[in-house]
Amino acid sequence: MLGIETSCDETAAAVVLRDEFGKGSIRSNVVRSQLDEHAAFGGVVPELAARAHVTYLDHIIAQACREAGVSLDEVDAIAATAGPGLIGGVLVGLTTAKALAAALGKPLIAVNHLEAHALTARLTDGVQFPYLMLLVSGGHSQFVLVRGVGDYQRWGSTIDDALGEAFDKVAKLLTLGHPGGPAVERIARSGDPKRFKFPRPLLREARLDFSFSGLKTAVRLQAEALAPLSDQDVADIAASFQAAVAEIVAVRSRQALERFASEFPGQAMRLVVAGGVAANQTIGAALRAVCVEAGATLVVPPMALCTDNGAMVAWAGAERFALGALDDLDFTARPRWPLDLDDMRIEPDAA
Ligand code: KG4
Ligand code: ZN
Repeated sequence: MLGIETSCDETAAAVVLRDEFGKGSIRSNVVRSQLDEHAAFGGVVPELAARAHVTYLDHIIAQACREAGVSLDEVDAIAATAGPGLIGGVLVGLTTAKALAAALGKPLIAVNHLEAHALTARLTDGVQFPYLMLLVSGGHSQFVLVRGVGDYQRWGSTIDDALGEAFDKVAKLLTLGHPGGPAVERIARSGDPKRFKFPRPLLREARLDFSFSGLKTAVRLQAEALAPLSDQDVADIAASFQAAVAEIVAVRSRQALERFASEFPGQAMRLVVAGGVAANQTIGAALRAVCVEAGATLVVPPMALCTDNGAMVAWAGAERFALGALDDLDFTARPRWPLDLDDMRIEPDAA
């Protein structure tokens, strides 16, 4: 399966093999990040992203085939992210996939980007259904019950900012540059996480939703109150912010695992983490502690497969292909596409 990913600021293509037993292997996984293009703007500029995808995608696809040692004629089908994401970029990848599918006479699989994140743990760790996924990226923060390919139930989401976005905004406010997550984590190492007690929004409520905008505002007010900030102030604010989000994520994950245990008594519990924020070691340590306490297994795929990449799209395409779920060439790109819509479901007669 050839997989194409262009929904944000990574131009990516990969070739993945899925064997008859459902085991996956990555033959190539080529990612070109656009960090340099967007650096001066402090965030991703959609039009620049789309143009860069146009410039590089065909070279990236050729490289993915070359590294995998296959020609385009040899792949069984073409999978591409069809949403959700920045629509200009999604259109570039999906249209390229359609053109290849039409020219080669191969099936097209239109992949939901969130499904690609959700199924990655089956490629890397062979995780069996059902499992719980925590997706924490620049665009999404949600708990999803993964019951099967195409069969998802969202248990909670952010009601405002995504967690990665909160990291990015805090980094901007502390003038640490973009992307903010790694910068905040780095500077937080020399900070005191207990100096400021930032709010933990929604935490007293039982629902599995997140809210990060109040926390971000509290960080801004604290920074303004202390201005001009010393290096130590910046490090302490970053560390205290990170401690707050780690606690929020840990408490919510504990609740989500409790719900899993009550809905699937006796089932092995697995918490799969996906998205760029999974790289954060403070959050990772908090999640490990929660899983040990709950008797759950924590699955964190290798970082290159947690952040956006083509292999996860190829894999999701391969899983859908194996079930006979093909898409028509008139499939429309979708800027928004929740994972638990009924149209993700694979009709029983598809296979
Ligand atoms: O999954 P991803 O690569 O792209 C999408 O958003 O789809 O996630 C990028 C996000 C950015 O917001 C970035 O700041 C955040 O993940 N991130 C981190 C870390 N590394 C990346 N956040 C916290 N700590 C990190 N070490
Ligand atoms: Zn993503």
